[in-house]
Amino acid sequence: MADNNYHEEEVIGKAYDARLMRRLLTYARPYRIPLAIAIILLIAGSGLQLLLPVMVQIGIDDYIAVKNMNGLGTIALWSAMILFGSFIFSYLQMYITMYIGQKVQYDLRMQIFGHLQKLHLGFFDKNPVGRLVTRVTNDVNVLDELFSSGLVSVFGDIITLIGIIIALLYYNWRLALFTFAVVPLLIIATTIFRGKVRAIYRDVRTRIARLNAFTQEHVTGMNVIQLFTREKAVLNKFNSINADLRQANLKSVYYYAVFFPAVEIISSISLAILLYYGGFQVGAGVLTFGELVAFIQLVQRFYDPIRDLSEKYNILQSSMAASERIFKLLDTEPEIIPVVNGPKPAKSEGKIEFQNVWFAYNNDDYVLKNLSFSVSSGEKIAIVGATGAGKTSLISLLFRFYDYQKGSIKLDGIEINRMSNEILRSQLGLVLQDVFIFSGDYAGNIRLGNDNISDAQIIEALKKVNLHDFVINKEGGLNSEVKERGATLSTGQKQLLSFARALAFNPNILVLDEATSSVDTATEKMIQKALDRLLENRTAIIIAHRLSTIEKADKIIVLHHGEVREMGNHKELLQRKGIYYRLYQMQFRDEDLKAVG
Ligand SMILES: Nc1ncnc2c1ncn2[C@@H]1O[C@H](COP(=O)(O)OP(=O)(O)O)[C@@H](O)[C@H]1O
Ligand SMILES: [Mg+2]
Repeated sequence: MADNNYHEEEVIGKAYDARLMRRLLTYARPYRIPLAIAIILLIAGSGLQLLLPVMVQIGIDDYIAVKNMNGLGTIALWSAMILFGSFIFSYLQMYITMYIGQKVQYDLRMQIFGHLQKLHLGFFDKNPVGRLVTRVTNDVNVLDELFSSGLVSVFGDIITLIGIIIALLYYNWRLALFTFAVVPLLIIATTIFRGKVRAIYRDVRTRIARLNAFTQEHVTGMNVIQLFTREKAVLNKFNSINADLRQANLKSVYYYAVFFPAVEIISSISLAILLYYGGFQVGAGVLTFGELVAFIQLVQRFYDPIRDLSEKYNILQSSMAASERIFKLLDTEPEIIPVVNGPKPAKSEGKIEFQNVWFAYNNDDYVLKNLSFSVSSGEKIAIVGATGAGKTSLISLLFRFYDYQKGSIKLDGIEINRMSNEILRSQLGLVLQDVFIFSGDYAGNIRLGNDNISDAQIIEALKKVNLHDFVINKEGGLNSEVKERGATLSTGQKQLLSFARALAFNPNILVLDEATSSVDTATEKMIQKALDRLLENRTAIIIAHRLSTIEKADKIIVLHHGEVREMGNHKELLQRKGIYYRLYQMQFRDEDLKAVG
């Protein structure tokens, strides 16, 4: 229930930015041929539409006025054909532009997600999930409008406007100038409107983002809310965030409600002037009746593209903001530079060496200091230390989730930051306390998309961790459903499932980070057995709270404030009566007594 200020969207930049636009257009480049066709279709369609008033004028002046009804039929037929033609053109044009919009969206989403996967974990420490989800979904969606309607129809609007202006001037330049006289008024109204809407739009965006983030976070933490019966307080908080959003939206509704009728009034006034003045001209014989009717029809069409263009302006503005955020994400360089074609260890032995390793998450705030130790092939080592000592950080370095600042970490003799992540991580398996289960089925959660793992291997892994009977007794067996985050599984079952996952991948080196610390005694026995099988013939680094696990280790490393303070086996360390001894006294004695008694 903390303040969600860190979810705030960045401030929106300029309404039009040539640099952003140029970059956006590169996404349309693969579709430039359909785009060009769409523009041609649009121009042709708009041109046809402009012919209709001309048909009316000819119909009135040349046929109705002289009572030539046969000719009128021909004109009607022509008009129908023109209408039909413009229908076909706009159908094709819309289809093509929507198609381009979808293609571009697809490309962008692929690129963003692909990029997210390359980013170092430190990036995800700093960016809330909600914001990243918004990039892939909402922001891309905003751009769709630009590509599927904005870009092309701006052309159409401008061409239509020019066409109408020429036609008006051609029919009667005096009347035309009268009509254009209201344009400055329109421009003033539009400018005021834009300014207001722009400010509100920014508010709406930040408030939507806040609402999204709040909802997402609190739905995820629903059990905590209900446990502490904080429903009322959370609802109140939600209410105020929700009301903020409503208020911002209502404000924009107000300006829209004023702007559009205002444009309507301005155009009606100019129409009234036109009728009055045009009527006189018809009376004086300067203008035919048909020309006046055509003129009025054209003037009515004159305002459409102007209004459209101001709406396009909004699309443009939101696209600029969305693309700025998307590009900022795409421009975030991964801090862990992936290695391609790095060296491969001649023999995968599972040998690890830390030499004077220093590591800080931020600046010089070292959480690991001058760390040195080695694990030889097949050795099992345990790492103990108080919470915050740096155990998890140490492991993150080995997996290259973060890069260390000084020293070196070698796997089978090769420095890990010279190896490609594929090679490095194919040697390593990791089981965490917090098991992440994806929605899907059991097989999928073990295989994780790796088709080299057969069903037989999965069953074998499940058997080794004693989970086979449980899974097989389900209706769908291996393919029965697993809910998001493993909501329907017990903690112990999730733990066993993650063991099976590690087994199926069959790594040389297995790392366990407090993997057994949150299960009951009965499950622990089961897990212990599974663990023994898991560790057979492998190098292992185990961070554990359980004495039974630690005692068996070949070597125990005691971490204290990011430094290796003691190293040795259980017996040796107890005899030293140092940190390990004290930890043992505090942490393990109860357990020990229980085991004895
Ligand atoms: N992602 C992170 N960003 C910044 N600091 C972190 C991060 N993760 C852990 N720390 C800090 O690093 C220190 C060591 O944490 P950690 O390695 O998780 O300890 P342990 O696993 O031994 O409990 C702690 O002080 C912790 O606050
Ligand atoms: Mg930890």
